[in-house]
Amino acid sequence: MRWILHALAPLSCLLGLASAILKDGRPHANMMPMPIFPTIEAPYLASTATAKATVTYDTVYYFDQLIDHNNASLGTFQQRYWHTSEYYESGGPIILLTPGENNAETYYPFLTNISIFGQIAQQQHGAVVILEHRFYGASNPYPDLSSESLKVLSIPQAINDFVYFAKNVKLPMTNGDQLGPDKAPWILAGGSYSGALVSWTMVNNPGLFYAGYASSAVVEAITDFWQYYEPIRQYMPANCSADVAAVIAYVDEVFTGSNTTAIDSIKETFGMSDLTHLDDAAGALRNNLWDWQSLQPTSGPNAQFYKFCDALEVKDGISAPAEGWGLEHALASWGAYFKGEYLAFLCGDQSVLVCLGTYDATLDYYTNIEVGNSYRSWMWTVCNEVGWYQGGPPEGHPSIVSKLVDTDTLYTQRQCVLMFPDAFSEPPEPSVATTNSRYTGWGVQADRLFFANANRDPWRDATMSADGLGILGTLLQPIFVGDGFHCSDLKVANAEADISVAGVQTQALLSMSSWLGDWKPSNST
Ligand SMILES: *[C@@H]1O[C@H](CO)[C@@H](O)[C@H](O)[C@H]1NC(C)=O
Ligand SMILES: *[C@@H]1O[C@H](CO)[C@@H](O)[C@H](O)[C@H]1NC(C)=O
Ligand SMILES: *[C@@H]1O[C@H](CO)[C@@H](O)[C@H](O)[C@H]1NC(C)=O
Ligand SMILES: *[C@@H]1O[C@H](CO)[C@@H](O)[C@H](O)[C@H]1NC(C)=O
Repeated sequence: MRWILHALAPLSCLLGLASAILKDGRPHANMMPMPIFPTIEAPYLASTATAKATVTYDTVYYFDQLIDHNNASLGTFQQRYWHTSEYYESGGPIILLTPGENNAETYYPFLTNISIFGQIAQQQHGAVVILEHRFYGASNPYPDLSSESLKVLSIPQAINDFVYFAKNVKLPMTNGDQLGPDKAPWILAGGSYSGALVSWTMVNNPGLFYAGYASSAVVEAITDFWQYYEPIRQYMPANCSADVAAVIAYVDEVFTGSNTTAIDSIKETFGMSDLTHLDDAAGALRNNLWDWQSLQPTSGPNAQFYKFCDALEVKDGISAPAEGWGLEHALASWGAYFKGEYLAFLCGDQSVLVCLGTYDATLDYYTNIEVGNSYRSWMWTVCNEVGWYQGGPPEGHPSIVSKLVDTDTLYTQRQCVLMFPDAFSEPPEPSVATTNSRYTGWGVQADRLFFANANRDPWRDATMSADGLGILGTLLQPIFVGDGFHCSDLKVANAEADISVAGVQTQALLSMSSWLGDWKPSNST
């Protein structure tokens, strides 16, 4: 079974690109997944729509946002937002969130009480606003995504968008021009990258946003983010992890050696004989692990990741013991699954060279600069400011990912040059040190900032709950960790499926209630 291209709306409106979109919306199968919170699935969306037939959530509003916060004379662009005051009562909070690096128009169900944002609004009688991030969807300062246009895509600009919006917007509700952050308590909210933006914005503008809610927030920028795979390795079935590690060790050994018969045999086993570059072939095997990011407590046994492990571990109806079946069976069964089923699911009709090859500068993946191409905008941020390159671990660490695609081999940095040749002449070093010193990363101290994290989130090691950090929450900056996955706490349905996620949401509602009880308007005129 194959997901259809519309799963991510941002790209589907681009006819030119549509043919090149993969099953999960990525334009290229060797491009890393983004730290983004999942949209709400159709069934929940439908139930909201019928439950609230009298309220419209999908109305689009526009805000005149500054193109460049460093130079107001460059004028404004129209930034989209969605809004509801259904639960609002005078004195209530304004909850502002962005889905971050994606077209925001599929996210309006997050206005409702099927999300934690709607739950907070309902409890506190607040209004909810979803603001589209600059350079995503239809909120574009310039008509293309050229390197020149993207100069005004940066974390500081995104933070200033929140600030300028909060201070200047006239919300489409009663007294909507009298609800600035000096007159009403604003809560900044987000998940994943946009969760990090919550933390970074509060550090950067103390006191402006009264409170914050940051889910799976990747507060620390990290160039070599091999730890992405650690929660996966730790929580996936032990047999599957052992067998994946055995295959990867063998692939690395053969691919770094000179036995061309053995090399060709592996490529053939996985259906990738046409791929010229071995790092692309080894990197492609990460796709099975990236499917982990789609898991939620509500995922059934047919989720793609579980199908993968079943293919490797269930032989004649019998599951392998914890140590797996060993290299020989694992290589054959992973290969058969990948070649026989998964490649078609992943690449559709594309050749493996187009779908998985990263060396051809003429690929649509590199040359398409149409607005709405979220992955290009995201790559700009990756290459410049945050890194989070998802390659193999350092020597000696248990590994389920090939060493051929790590930061030493410049696997992703090389793609930065091909995608933005006008900006980079050689593989760039993202300025993570600047990002972390400006916004304090893991060192954040901001009052009334709630962190919600999850053990099985692959992005966990860039959050406040990273392994080995031991950061403790406080009353004014609590950290609650559930057993969920990426941003699981954002949806009520996940809380219904996992009591630990419900616990995180309960704590958030308690914190908001206690903090908002203390709010006083500032000495405004
Ligand atoms: C601001 O933009 C204007 C108009 O493009 C330009 O002339 C001016 O040099 C810019 N100022 C700064 C400080 O960049
Ligand atoms: C959402 O609010 C409605 C009332 O407006 C209520 O009937 C419903 O149970 C709430 N849903 C959730 C998930 O809390
Ligand atoms: C090369 O690999 C093939 C296939 O795995 C193996 O049969 C052969 O012995 C290897 N040759 C050498 C010289 O190691
Ligand atoms: C082995 O793999 C199967 C299939 O994914 C899984 O259901 C089972 O829990 C695993 N068992 C162990 C001991 O890892």
